[in-house]
Amino acid sequence: MPDEFFADISDQKTPPTYRFFNGKEWVVSTSGKTTEVHSPIDQSVLGTIQVVTTAEIDAVMESAKTFQSAWEAMPLYQRVKIMHLAADWIRHFADYLIPLLMREIGKITDEAKGEIMRTADLTDYFADEAQSIRGETMESDNFPGFEKGKIALIERVAYGTVVAIAPFNYPVNLSASKIVPALLMGNSVVFKPPTQGTISGLHLVKIFQKAGVPAGVLSCVTGGGGEIGDYLVSHPKADIITFTGSSDTGAAIAQKGGMKPLVFECGGNNPAVIFPDADMSLTVREIIKGGFSYAGQRCTAIKYVLATQGVLDQLMPEIVKEIAQAVHMGDPRSPETKLVGPVISEQAAEHIEQIINEAVSEGAAIVTGGKRNAAYIEPTILTNVKPTMKIVATEVFGPVISFIAVKSMDEAVTMINESRFGLQASVFTKDEGTGIAFARQLNVGTVQINGSPQRGPDHFPFLGVKHSGIGVQGVRYSLEAMSRLRPIILNKPA
Ligand code: G3H
Repeated sequence: MPDEFFADISDQKTPPTYRFFNGKEWVVSTSGKTTEVHSPIDQSVLGTIQVVTTAEIDAVMESAKTFQSAWEAMPLYQRVKIMHLAADWIRHFADYLIPLLMREIGKITDEAKGEIMRTADLTDYFADEAQSIRGETMESDNFPGFEKGKIALIERVAYGTVVAIAPFNYPVNLSASKIVPALLMGNSVVFKPPTQGTISGLHLVKIFQKAGVPAGVLSCVTGGGGEIGDYLVSHPKADIITFTGSSDTGAAIAQKGGMKPLVFECGGNNPAVIFPDADMSLTVREIIKGGFSYAGQRCTAIKYVLATQGVLDQLMPEIVKEIAQAVHMGDPRSPETKLVGPVISEQAAEHIEQIINEAVSEGAAIVTGGKRNAAYIEPTILTNVKPTMKIVATEVFGPVISFIAVKSMDEAVTMINESRFGLQASVFTKDEGTGIAFARQLNVGTVQINGSPQRGPDHFPFLGVKHSGIGVQGVRYSLEAMSRLRPIILNKPA
């Protein structure tokens, strides 16, 4: 049944050549160019993907524009119904999609399962919430100097064509979190999946097509960011860009996108701050889970820990013990593996290894880990780290947590606020008042008290400041971000 359902998306050979979706049909690019997708688990070839041409991008942009108005004119309840059906299909094919995701991006079973089921739930929740997104009316006489007589009918309407660009670490969930609100609000979507993650992304698109998204409204163009990204984001027919990925790529897109509205979730280097009164066993568990789940390849992963030397001395033996119990690096398909599988590619692993070595050469000490084998990086703890070292100053997408001793909590605030990133931070203390007061001093998107950073639950607002993002996501916020206000003023002088 899955083979039949997803038949169009490839030639079904071993390994398959995947097609792209031009909004109407699944086709091979006229470029004649393809890219191989390798599994980070063992470097085996999972398939090849099309590198589309600029002419093919022009054609999908044209269809997106042509078919968008009929899609927006469709009654909302019908779009809602299509999204609920898509959520059902995602659940229905979970057992097929989970191993696919594991092979393509190296997630362990629980994480891959979590991503698929969360995507189905998210799609349903978006569809339900879209029903309550409404326009409003306003009258003029509230404002000094105005009489009655002007009535604003403030409608919420689609932007037009949304360009959606998703990252490799959640190729199903962070694709759906862009596509679903955009479609529900009446936009058409041109979706570019991550190169590593394209195969999972194509399956998701097929589900939306089968669920009833009409021809031309959703397309999926494939190819490397370097090959098609610039053309896509600077396209004159793109009305808004939604992107998750690195801060550097985000900054480049912002430049090339010109005046287009942007919704960005970018890098993070999220700190955890430990007060002396923290519940140490909870803190240790949250740091390890927060730093090492999906091998540290989450924009919300804990990257560094700040505490006074006395607290760090007390913490470190517990951290090492917790790693021995809660973390086991290995093949993500093995039930033995806990939290740390491979990182996304051997090249990424080499980069992480190089940054660890650089930190060590600058004075950092390895408490545990630090070694690489192919795409696998051992869960690594570093001490004596300085905030200027690349291991903390840049976003290192791998299983590495750095520990930095501070003299005071004021120093911790300064360090966090001086970082170029500002996604999330965690504060551990038994005194919630202290936690809240501390949180208020931090210039980051969200502060977690006694918990590790994370995006969910998905209806909470999710945002980054500084180089960590633009705009706000989260169910209602994403629906709002994918639509604009259209005030129409009735002037009715008495
Ligand atoms: O990588 C960025 C994701 O938005 C993180 O999501 O906190 O649910 O892992 P997560």
